[in-house]
Amino acid sequence: MYCYNRPSVALQDYPTVRTAADLAEAIERSIRQGSFAAGEPLPPIRQLAEQVGLSAGTVASAYRVLNTRGLTASDRRRGTWVRELRKEDLAPVRQAIPVPAGVVDCSSGNPDPRLLPDPVPAVAGLAYEPAMYGSPVAHPGFIAESRRRLKRDGVPAEHATVTFGALDGIARMLASNLAPGDRVALEDPGWAALIDLVERLGYTAVPTAVDPEGPTTDGVWQSLAAGAKAIVVTARAQNPTGAAISKRRAGELREVFSRYPGRLVIEDDHACGLAEVALHPVVGPTGRYGFLRSLAKGYGPDLRLAVAAGDATTVARLESSVIAGAGWVSHLVQQLALALWQDPAVSSQLAAASSLYRQRRAALCAELAARGIDVAAPTGLNVWIPVGDEATAVSALLARGWLVAPGGRFRMVSGPAIRVTTAALDTDRAAECATAIAEASAAAASKGRHSGSGG
Ligand SMILES: Cc1ncc(COP(=O)(O)O)c(C=O)c1O
Repeated sequence: MYCYNRPSVALQDYPTVRTAADLAEAIERSIRQGSFAAGEPLPPIRQLAEQVGLSAGTVASAYRVLNTRGLTASDRRRGTWVRELRKEDLAPVRQAIPVPAGVVDCSSGNPDPRLLPDPVPAVAGLAYEPAMYGSPVAHPGFIAESRRRLKRDGVPAEHATVTFGALDGIARMLASNLAPGDRVALEDPGWAALIDLVERLGYTAVPTAVDPEGPTTDGVWQSLAAGAKAIVVTARAQNPTGAAISKRRAGELREVFSRYPGRLVIEDDHACGLAEVALHPVVGPTGRYGFLRSLAKGYGPDLRLAVAAGDATTVARLESSVIAGAGWVSHLVQQLALALWQDPAVSSQLAAASSLYRQRRAALCAELAARGIDVAAPTGLNVWIPVGDEATAVSALLARGWLVAPGGRFRMVSGPAIRVTTAALDTDRAAECATAIAEASAAAASKGRHSGSGG
């Protein structure tokens, strides 16, 4: 059994610890200063209580606070231990990587700003009805049209509201349904900001395998059997792999979900307006679910708007969490989104954008295949390319004038890779980019073999 020898939790520089909040803050400071190794246990509750002269209940509350902040995790067997703090825990994961002059940025995951509809004429043409304190969260016209569109796509949308984007909706659904420490199944590889969020909120991420048809049936089965209370799946344009849930896979997943009533299933459909393939929704069978449709990719991340449908309880909890804070989601933005949806010129512009995204992705995949690198990227803005060693691949590409994202931010137990955002990569540069990737990948393969990090 592990014997805890550390003389104190670096409390000597924080002598006035009287409450759980003080204690949590003192320990948090030690963790952030690097006084604990990843995985290192905190002292057993009773031992620390004695050491600092507080009750065991106060120490237990402090540990709960640390779990909620995503700094530690607990279970009955191991007690409480320090999580691995990635540099993103200190600097937000979503900050863009700085792009050196002369380098092509394929790292951001962003849509091509040149392909976003211009909101200004739409704003000028609005018969604007401003929201006032006490207004509903959702603008009635926007939510009615959203529900109509969701139903048309087979999503149960009797209850629906709006949130400040997909991630905001996911965070609120998790927080209002789970307890700190609960397990949340996430796609692996998957969306970096989501993995980060789940850890920060103090849940335990359970990696769930993905293939081009979506989260694998076995993977989902195993995650739910391992006790995941919630699962987040991506409908299409999965980030980073481009997977899209096929009709067959949706049927299998629905069958698995029907065996787990009460588990929260969240489906993220973030490429609204750019849908390259039909939607095959998986939400519903557990009775507890949320379906989020974000406008970020087609209409622009700055709209900060997602439609959230779900069962009555999930939607009610979501709405009360918005009401308790911001009160409502900007009705100006919702009316703008409605106007953009209803403008046939915008729809054709988005159809053209969607086809360009497909061409850009396909051009890179074809050039990679010609160089012996076979990758599937069925939909979306990115191509995910397995490599032997990520750091070597990223720096070799940078030396050749290409900035790509290292895969580490997007994965838990799956193998090393790089993510190349093709959204703004003009097709006439695909060959050049593929050559650089092939060379970098060769360098990374030998490094991976020597360091044993391949596979
Ligand atoms: C998988 C996935 N879902 C959703 C989003 C958009 O989320 P939001 O609406 O919070 O901007 C992104 C953005 O990168 C994403 O990659």
